[in-house]
Amino acid sequence: MHQDIEEILISEAQLQEKITSLGQQIALDYTGKNLLLLGTLKGAVPFIADLARAIDLPLEIDYMAVASYGNTTQSSGIVRIIKDLEGPIDQKHVLIIEDIIDSGLTLHYLVDLLRRRNPLSLKICSLLNKERPRLKNVPIDYYGFTIPDKFVVGYGLDYAQLYRNLPYIGILKPSVYSETSEPAKQHKSMAEEV
Ligand code: PRP
Ligand code: MN
Ligand code: MG
Repeated sequence: MHQDIEEILISEAQLQEKITSLGQQIALDYTGKNLLLLGTLKGAVPFIADLARAIDLPLEIDYMAVASYGNTTQSSGIVRIIKDLEGPIDQKHVLIIEDIIDSGLTLHYLVDLLRRRNPLSLKICSLLNKERPRLKNVPIDYYGFTIPDKFVVGYGLDYAQLYRNLPYIGILKPSVYSETSEPAKQHKSMAEEV
């Protein structure tokens, strides 16, 4: 286990088992449909890579990158696009692939934006569903695990851009982040906090 990790919350084997069953469910639901998996950079990269291989259907993959304006203590809810999709989605069934829903702001913004592009359908698949009051309510169609309101990293999730490459979801030792100001929005990178 990494020295900065206090406890493994979800092991590599638990992740893979859940992703296999999510993939099977999604394959059933999207059979015969023009499926586009829309991954959110950067956190969802490991998840979408594994999930896509667990979905035994023809499908497309594309990515969007979004970032929040504002500092970490007061989330403005204003999100801007860093990288957009390559093409239109009006002939596609879009499934957004996220690593975690925390405040709900990122997904709320994305859903709002994508709806205006008239996809054939728009649903959400989030690996993690954090148990906390949402700032914005977003319907999650598929999720892997509900987790407590703890500081988690790994399998795509970062703290200050690190730990994304851990193969499991772990709780970060408070000593790792206690020297800086307490982050209200743990996953925002330092660089984005202007
Ligand atoms: C994190 C995470 C989700 C989002 C969830 O991304 O990957 O996309 O925050 O938080 P929310 O529900 O409060 O909006 P982040 O913006 O840190 O970018 P990253 O994926 O590049 O780490
Ligand atoms: Mn993200
Ligand atoms: Mg982040």
